[in-house]
Amino acid sequence: MNLEKKTVLITGANRGIGRALVDEALRRGAKRVYAGARSALHNTDKRVTPLTLDVTSVSQIQRAVDEVDTLDVLINNAGVAIYDDLSKLDVIEQHLAVNLLGSLKVTHAFLPLLRRSKGAIVNNLSLAALAPLPVIPAYSISKAAESNMTQSLRAFLAGQGVTVHAVFLGPIDTDMSRGLEIPKASAETAAQGIFDGLEKGEQDIFPDPVSQSIAEGWRTGAAKALERQFAAFVPEIAA
Ligand SMILES: NC(=O)c1ccc[n+]([C@@H]2O[C@H](COP(=O)([O-])OP(=O)(O)OC[C@H]3O[C@@H](n4cnc5c(N)ncnc54)[C@H](OP(=O)(O)O)[C@@H]3O)[C@@H](O)[C@H]2O)c1
Repeated sequence: MNLEKKTVLITGANRGIGRALVDEALRRGAKRVYAGARSALHNTDKRVTPLTLDVTSVSQIQRAVDEVDTLDVLINNAGVAIYDDLSKLDVIEQHLAVNLLGSLKVTHAFLPLLRRSKGAIVNNLSLAALAPLPVIPAYSISKAAESNMTQSLRAFLAGQGVTVHAVFLGPIDTDMSRGLEIPKASAETAAQGIFDGLEKGEQDIFPDPVSQSIAEGWRTGAAKALERQFAAFVPEIAA
């Protein structure tokens, strides 16, 4: 999908990859960008509408829905990553509340608008969804679960004209990856890669040099083949 004259909503838009996505959407000619953030957000571009949006708050999600008339692209970008060793259940729950359930709640809330526009859902996942990064195992669990959810939504919504895209980000230079001393791509590179992948209609988007190195292996691998096989069950169950 091309962003020209489209309406886009991005969660976690106040910093990091979310903020870069707002700028890149504007550069690509988006008509309106709804920038979701937990705290006040300022952008001088008149096409940006800030939304107060904690993705764990059902009331804030509902208020956000009330402020949006039409929507072509929803980007579930908001996320948390906390270093842990799986010893604290509340840390696992916190990751699931934001990265998995927050994305799902926001998706459900905006689905009627996306069905109407035959729009797209873009979920910002991580390579840690495919294999755990053991310094952030709770985060990895939540991203693996979010990836699995993305695949189910893709299968459910295929017949309704809504496309669902997974973004498998590698290391990106934001606050989230501050403690990792490894080469990182810029948030701007990631944002460009995400919208390039969306424009090409890619189901699974690998937007940066590290993620691109495994793209071919993923697309031709057993897990992707199984996803396609299992997706074929959806119409039978619905029927
Ligand atoms: N950076 C990487 O290396 C990397 C790699 C793979 C995947 N990703 C994914 O890319 C996405 C963006 O990450 P980032 O690197 O830009 O991280 P970041 O700089 O830490 O920004 C995280 C964003 O999420 C928001 N957020 C956190 N909890 C929220 C909640 N409950 N409701 C609404 N917003 C919330 C934050 O808002 P506040 O400012 O209010 O905290 C912030 O805007 C995440 O989903 C992350 O998992 C990042």
